[in-house]
Amino acid sequence: MTCPFGLPDGIPALGGGPDNSKRDGSGKGMGENAIEIEGVTKTYAAAGNQPPKEALAGIDLTIPRGSVFGLLGPNGAGKSTLINILAGLVVKSSGSVRIWGFDQDKNPRQSRASIGVMPQEPNIDPFFTPGALLDVQAGLYGVPKGERRTDEILAMVGLSDKKDAYARHLSGGMRRRLLLAKALVHAPPILVLDEPTAGVDIELRQMLWGQVRKLNEAGTTIILTTHYLEEAEEMCDEIAIIHHGSLLVRDTTSALLSTIDSRTLLITPDGDAPSTITAPEGVDLDRRKGGALAFTYRRAQTSPGDIIDAVRASGITIRDIAIEEAHLEDVFLTLTRAQDAEAPAA
Ligand SMILES: Nc1ncnc2c1ncn2[C@@H]1O[C@H](COP(=O)(O)OP(=O)(O)OP(=O)(O)O)[C@@H](O)[C@H]1O
Ligand SMILES: [Mg+2]
Repeated sequence: MTCPFGLPDGIPALGGGPDNSKRDGSGKGMGENAIEIEGVTKTYAAAGNQPPKEALAGIDLTIPRGSVFGLLGPNGAGKSTLINILAGLVVKSSGSVRIWGFDQDKNPRQSRASIGVMPQEPNIDPFFTPGALLDVQAGLYGVPKGERRTDEILAMVGLSDKKDAYARHLSGGMRRRLLLAKALVHAPPILVLDEPTAGVDIELRQMLWGQVRKLNEAGTTIILTTHYLEEAEEMCDEIAIIHHGSLLVRDTTSALLSTIDSRTLLITPDGDAPSTITAPEGVDLDRRKGGALAFTYRRAQTSPGDIIDAVRASGITIRDIAIEEAHLEDVFLTLTRAQDAEAPAA
């Protein structure tokens, strides 16, 4: 597509454009960063009886091109503040932001054109139709009339039949689809989704993640926030956790998961288990509904074999066995609680 702001080469068009960072078979991006955040702080000014609020205490973060990157953190951590700074909706107090290589302060138009943001809060004019809204948005980004993809985008988010309905007549889930459509109008190489699946039904959730995967496969860098950690675990190559406006950790999803040392071994006995079972030292036993025995152990201390031996020694015949892996939720809770214990929130 012709770009109004002189975007650099390598910006993907919707549905697969010239940027084929993932099509060269290497699977990952172009070795450059989509986003570079350095020393970014934000203090919201005092308003009414509310004192000033430091929402970001100094964030350094780089997000590689071509990745699906999860920005996680508890309520009020500063995720939306950071995303809204990237989108140009919130003005940072200090620090620097580069988007697709463009400094946000020196090249504001290019950096804005390189990013599409689906905000957490719907910002849809209720008196417009979806078709008109996308047209206005395309106009704002200078997409020439002949190159607008209104119908294609509406079809992509499943809103073709609502093109001419008033936005105020759309359901909540349809409004979220429309927000995604708006973010895609200028075919940005970076798509940011701020809690896209909060309160939406299963069908929309699957539709959203399906579209996100397709866009990513076509080269779009995806940044998302979600409180559904199983979604982040499934979708994200890399994850940053922020808490009280600071970066707690940033790593690949698999590296984060491997930091959790505890595992649970589930053993289903053949028949009723005896009331006393001697588990190896340091292993917790929890009896699950249906009779399964859940042994939680530290991998560094105990092996599953030790537990199985102990179970057999207690006279139990084993019918079934399974291991419950660590989940991102465990990593998240471990890290955020550790920080809360160190420095309780004000
Ligand atoms: N416009 C504003 N004026 C003053 N304070 C604000 C404003 N927007 C956000 N805050 C405060 O900044 C902090 C970070 O808010 P932010 O919305 O960035 O959090 P979040 O991580 O997105 O949380 P959530 O998971 O609930 O969406 C919070 O303490 C919030 O109350
Ligand atoms: Mg938020």
